[in-house]
Amino acid sequence: MKDVRTGTQSQWQRKRVFIRTYGCQMNVYDSDRMADVLRPLGYALSENPEQADLVVLNTCHIREKASEKVYSELGRLRDLKAERRRGGSDLVIAVAGCVAQAEGEEIIQRQPAVDIVVGPQAYHRLPELLARAARATDARRADGRRRPGAGVLDTEFPAESKFDHLPAPSDVRAGSAFVSIQEGCDKFCTFCVVPYTRGAEYSRPATSVLQEARALVAAGAIEITLLGQNVNAYHGEAPGSSNVGLGAGSTWTLARLIRALAEIDGLARIRYTTSHPRDMFDDLVAAHGDVPQLMPYLHLPVQSGSDRVLEAMNRGHGRNHFRRLVDRLRDIRPDIALSSDFIVGFPGESDVDFDDTMRLVEEVGFASAFSFKYSRRPGTPGAALDGQVAESIKTARLAALQSLLGRQQRDFNTSKVGATVPVLFAGAGRKPGQMLGKSPWLQSVFVEGNADMIGRLATVRLLAAHPLSLAGEIATDGLPARAGGPFGVAA
Ligand code: SAH
Ligand code: SF4
Ligand code: F3S
Repeated sequence: MKDVRTGTQSQWQRKRVFIRTYGCQMNVYDSDRMADVLRPLGYALSENPEQADLVVLNTCHIREKASEKVYSELGRLRDLKAERRRGGSDLVIAVAGCVAQAEGEEIIQRQPAVDIVVGPQAYHRLPELLARAARATDARRADGRRRPGAGVLDTEFPAESKFDHLPAPSDVRAGSAFVSIQEGCDKFCTFCVVPYTRGAEYSRPATSVLQEARALVAAGAIEITLLGQNVNAYHGEAPGSSNVGLGAGSTWTLARLIRALAEIDGLARIRYTTSHPRDMFDDLVAAHGDVPQLMPYLHLPVQSGSDRVLEAMNRGHGRNHFRRLVDRLRDIRPDIALSSDFIVGFPGESDVDFDDTMRLVEEVGFASAFSFKYSRRPGTPGAALDGQVAESIKTARLAALQSLLGRQQRDFNTSKVGATVPVLFAGAGRKPGQMLGKSPWLQSVFVEGNADMIGRLATVRLLAAHPLSLAGEIATDGLPARAGGPFGVAA
């Protein structure tokens, strides 16, 4: 690769990359960072594959449906690539993310049009992989024959951390940014592919997180969401400490990190996701009581309300632990809203087990939730268990659970009608003249407004509740503030 500063190769070449993101917020973060890695090579973002020179599919392996989608998309891209080649140009196809990690070489065998397969911990090496892919294409052309499977592969979990090799984030969308602080997972829930697709748990050093957060705030972020598949297991190297890996240095907890972030001027909102009920340590619960920037909303997946199922899932806690945790959080922060994830039809789940889940939901009351039918994932312990549940039973249980959760979400939204709350505006609503934003409880709120409001906080009176959103009106003089505290708007 040539130095972009000399402008000899790439800078003036105006190339375009289209990145399609599947899966969780960690992938959204990674897609943005891939764009940052590619920018110095001359790649600008494209809105669609048709106008792109490079297409990256950033994939998700969590359920069967998610990973199968990738292959149908690859079929379409193969046709596009063939068309380009007939016209004398090319389309480079890269598969990144969790399917890349899980299936590696198999992807290239199933779809030989794929040029690059790169795992979620290795994408900082994209420039090198692109150069290798270009050499492989040249060699194939020189051969005069199509050699299938000439794609390049990087699915190592490299010894170096990608975070030490990524450029500073360059863009903030609508005042809100993600910062990945915890990679991988060591929990090995028996249904889940994440420990295999993203590797062992790794906490990014606090200094690196704080640097990125400060850069994002300087670039216009007023809300930061800290990310990890297990974000509250965070134990990153403390600033000024070293030798943590050797057991000699000191570390920060997530709560300590949140308190440091709360000192950044202009950062009005802090969120984190996804947290595990086992890692809600006392200092983190306490932070919900006394860090005003920490939003009163917590995504705390419980998966099931049955002790038997929780044990078979290897979740490491029972229903009472979850109940007590919710009580403690509500004692310390009475307006905290809870969201969760549920799986129905895990192997061995009986009617009684499912009733336990329904009862837990009734007892706790959730402001929102995601629920899924159990999907049998190759290589996970759950896939080999006896007592796989019939599809028709999964469908019926999911419908019952979603109906209850939907009712709770509507009730929660209704309970906020009449309140005056800060809303961070993210973009245009569906109807002309409508703007859409998020309340402290992550509800979608729409008001009449204009594009100047995007990326800013404004005080909104909530007027009416819908199942998935609220209607409101700007409560101040109509002019949103550039930043502000979570409970008011500062000029
Ligand atoms: N780290 C988070 C969740 C990661 S995956 C946690 O520990 O809770 C996001 C959600 O997908 C999970 O909470 C779970 O509800 C769902 N999920 C994961 N594997 C699944 C599978 N095999 N079948 C169905 N849903 C699954
Ligand atoms: Fe998957 Fe469990 Fe890890 Fe969450 S905690 S990522 S569900 S293994
Ligand atoms: Fe999917 Fe990987 Fe996220 S499997 S949910 S993209 S960590």
